[in-house]
Amino acid sequence: MNTHDGLSAIFEQYGNISRPFTHMPPEEALAIAREHYGADGDIRHLPTEKDDTFHIRCASGRGFIMKVEHPCEPREDVAFQTALLDDLKENAPDLPVPRVIRTQHDAPVLVHTDRAGQERQIRLLSYLQGVPLDHIPTSADGRRRIGAQLARLRHALAGFSHPGGDRAIIWDVRRLPDLRALLSLIEDPLHRACAQAAMTRFMDLLPDIGKLRTQILHNDFNRSNILARAHDDETLAGIIDFGDALRTAIAIDVSTAMVNQLPQDVTPDAAAFLSAPRDVLHGYVEHADLQLAEIGMLGHLLMARLLTRALITTWRAGMFSENRAYIMRHSQATWKQLAWFVERDADTISDLFVSDTSFSNRMGCKA
Ligand SMILES: Nc1ncnc2c1ncn2[C@@H]1O[C@H](COP(=O)(O)OP(=O)(O)O)[C@@H](O)[C@H]1O
Ligand SMILES: [Mg+2]
Repeated sequence: MNTHDGLSAIFEQYGNISRPFTHMPPEEALAIAREHYGADGDIRHLPTEKDDTFHIRCASGRGFIMKVEHPCEPREDVAFQTALLDDLKENAPDLPVPRVIRTQHDAPVLVHTDRAGQERQIRLLSYLQGVPLDHIPTSADGRRRIGAQLARLRHALAGFSHPGGDRAIIWDVRRLPDLRALLSLIEDPLHRACAQAAMTRFMDLLPDIGKLRTQILHNDFNRSNILARAHDDETLAGIIDFGDALRTAIAIDVSTAMVNQLPQDVTPDAAAFLSAPRDVLHGYVEHADLQLAEIGMLGHLLMARLLTRALITTWRAGMFSENRAYIMRHSQATWKQLAWFVERDADTISDLFVSDTSFSNRMGCKA
């Protein structure tokens, strides 16, 4: 396949949510909230990756999030996310996740043709009070709590299954081979060589990654999707954004939470570079087991997530050139972090967390 065909194939499979669409103005959203949910109040549009999201604050003090999906969002994906949140309400009522509010006709999803003539799937979710963790500095203890909360969520979802869970998401690192054509878009030759080396290493590991335990998982446990109680209280008050949830490897879900903790300033010293992600891991293994094969894969999965981010960022910056500076704002750090992994041989990366016997012994890990 030549580069052009390769890029077309990627767009065909993953580009739907990047297609331009007419955004819904807040007054239209509020009219729908009144008519179908009996909800009224102040409404504010929140910036999101691919949909129209609104925060509605009622005079009573109650709050809602209204998600108006991208017109191309598959029905099955929205049904899956809805079923997932309903399942958590039933089986893990203590976990602070949004509840799906029904319409006045008791439907969890409202399919609505908007004023621009686009068919939109609409959901009303309960608003969770709290401060996103990316707005406040996190302590080691706070990072352990993130890991612990992710472990609880994994346990809570262990029995959940749904046909929509097997969806293809570009952010699932197992999809990296599909993104190979994007390598040619990387302009800087050093960056391209680094990405190529990471891709080659990842391809070698793919058969082993395919053997890891899977289940339905959040898979976007980054700080913007986790809420603390207040600026000065790191107690976790909310888990939001199940937009990337799917059935994937447990180790991938853990590595996604860890990668978000890598320092922007990259240091050669492994202990310093990995200290914050390791806090998340320690909190996790206090509450959920990880097998030796999973722990040995974590370093590679961190590399894979960084490669995914670098490739998607490069792709998007090319597609939305007017927004290039915003899209690329963290990319220098991503390239440096990726190079950190590529510069070390594969065995060293496999050992990064396995040799941390303080927890692998405690868990009595077995391969
Ligand atoms: N249920 C909720 N409670 C409180 N805030 C929410 C909720 N859902 C979304 N938000 C706010 O809206 C922002 C974007 O929503 P999110 O679903 O995370 O979209 P994206 O996929 O673009 O990250 C979040 O970062 C958060 O500030
Ligand atoms: Mg989010």
